[in-house]
Amino acid sequence: MRALTYHGSGDVRVETVPDPSLVAADDILLRVTATAICGSDLHIYRGKIPAMEHGDILGHEFMGVVEDAGPEVTRVKVGDRVVIPFVIACGKCFHCLLEEFAACETTNTGRGAILNAKKIRPPAALFGYSHLYGGVPGGQAELVRVPNANVGPLPVPDVLADEQVLFLSDILPTGYQAVLNAGVGEGSTLAIFGAGPVGCMAAACARMLGVETIFMIDHNDYRLAFARRAYQVVPINFDEQDDPAGAIVEATAGRGVDAAIEAVGFEAKGSTTETMLTTLKLEGSSGHALRQCIAATRRGGTVSVPGVYAGFIHGFLFGDAFDKGLTFRMGQTHVQAFMPELLEAIGDGRLAPEAIISHRMKLADAARGYAMFNAREDECRKVVLTP
Ligand SMILES: NC(=O)c1ccc[n+]([C@@H]2O[C@H](COP(=O)([O-])OP(=O)(O)OC[C@H]3O[C@@H](n4cnc5c(N)ncnc54)[C@H](O)[C@@H]3O)[C@@H](O)[C@H]2O)c1
Ligand SMILES: [Zn+2]
Ligand SMILES: [Zn+2]
Repeated sequence: MRALTYHGSGDVRVETVPDPSLVAADDILLRVTATAICGSDLHIYRGKIPAMEHGDILGHEFMGVVEDAGPEVTRVKVGDRVVIPFVIACGKCFHCLLEEFAACETTNTGRGAILNAKKIRPPAALFGYSHLYGGVPGGQAELVRVPNANVGPLPVPDVLADEQVLFLSDILPTGYQAVLNAGVGEGSTLAIFGAGPVGCMAAACARMLGVETIFMIDHNDYRLAFARRAYQVVPINFDEQDDPAGAIVEATAGRGVDAAIEAVGFEAKGSTTETMLTTLKLEGSSGHALRQCIAATRRGGTVSVPGVYAGFIHGFLFGDAFDKGLTFRMGQTHVQAFMPELLEAIGDGRLAPEAIISHRMKLADAARGYAMFNAREDECRKVVLTP
């Protein structure tokens, strides 16, 4: 089969690789009909995720048709059209029973990314996301082996097109969890840092839940313009306004927003010092966007972080967070927990996540899709690939 494989920083290729096959009795084999490139894939593409090996198949946002199923698969059958969550969970362990699927204790053979690991178990395995997360081949491919198929795959009705439901695999639940973690709702004020796909899905979910004012911060004007049109955000371009948090506090009667969502992650564009510290690996993550979130949030408010972080941040301003009595919530998304209700919201028209798509390409052109999404070329917001 053909699949998108990793060969080092900035080097991904579509190659012929061996077809996957069923291994465990509860595996399915999926024929992929649509897959997308995620901001998380860009961290890999830029060589920032360790434990990647030559030839690893990328991709964790995908859907398709069940081609074959092991004897213990009961939830889906051959021929079903399903969306696959990027988190691989067993459904039975301590964390799965709490619906904390991203913390599943049984699926990851890797060690996770924690530095001070002591003896803690690793979190769930993820599709196509390095050997820290199990080294499981991803879905930017013609075929994928999907383990734990009685827990993950969500059957979708034929009346909904692939593009309408594809983002149930990751960015839509991620935006939704970020908004739930932010604790906002009817009449709230919210700041979203990052106008990428995750920030936009958070904006869509915040609108659905009745959030009144959404400030959105980025420096890609075309992304801010889209979010303003689609989700009526108040855009702030940080190339023009060098203290977005200050502007937000001023615009909210000197108080700050009820919550801030950090949808940027550890490669946040910050000061030259921060870029230097992260380049020298003295610092695992740039703390710029996170500090802005802390500064923009009102006393007693919440900072919600779907953006991916790793290792140390020195300039964290924990004292400011303490003084303001902030709550922090963060982490990988417990995708399985939110898929059914979000599918319903798509079905009845409350959500239309496909609006984020800017580019449709063949899987064969995936390398060009990565380069374009990474460089924000051609006003790229989200790339969908079809085999
Ligand atoms: N928690 C999860 O389960 C989960 C799931 C999916 C994605 N993610 C993470 O979410 C983050 C965003 O993903 P995406 O697909 O939207 O990525 P993206 O790279 O397309 O978007 C990030 C946006 O942030 C903007 N940005 C950079 N520095 C900034 C700053 N200092 N302030 C404000 N904006 C800034 C960029 O210009 C860009 O538009 C990534 O870190 C990704 O890994 C997490
Ligand atoms: Zn993702
Ligand atoms: Zn589990």
